[in-house]
Amino acid sequence: MKKQVIECEFEEYSNASELSDIDKVLFLEAKRISQNAYAPYSGFNVGAAVRLENGKVILGTNQENIAYPSGLCAERVALFSAHSSYPKQKIESVAIYAYSKNFIVDEVVSPCGACRQVIAEYEEISKQAISVIMGSDAGVIKTNGVKQLLPFRFSSKGLKS
Ligand code: THU
Repeated sequence: MKKQVIECEFEEYSNASELSDIDKVLFLEAKRISQNAYAPYSGFNVGAAVRLENGKVILGTNQENIAYPSGLCAERVALFSAHSSYPKQKIESVAIYAYSKNFIVDEVVSPCGACRQVIAEYEEISKQAISVIMGSDAGVIKTNGVKQLLPFRFSSKGLKS
């Protein structure tokens, strides 16, 4: 037996104004669109903004449903929409912003496991890391590639015999 350690590298910003201009624009788009979330059950509004290689920005918000599992996270709404409209465009970056109608979000909000797996798929097909910029009013964190967030992800290699 050999113990192994995986490190997670990320950049921490005390607020969005410290981000580079291109990242700030994306993050502020995620923040703006979070107002449109359909989240009557959780009161937790999430906005996501996806930047493509061609510069286009695709937005999404969480969509809830009375049959709870039928809803979808903001990240996947934006990512699936981006890849549906522009299947050949590489995804460069995803920004996420969240706030609650019921309490102060005092942590940076990061994508759930299922959304990380979806980001990993697009990284794999484009052979390019996707940066993830995640935040709330508590601060902003940026990772270069979802590998930092999901080191033991399931990959297509797992399906090959
Ligand atoms: N949610 C997202 O949209 N993205 C995340 O990364 C975490 C959670 C949504 C799902 C649900 O509508 C609400 O937040 C509460 O979990």
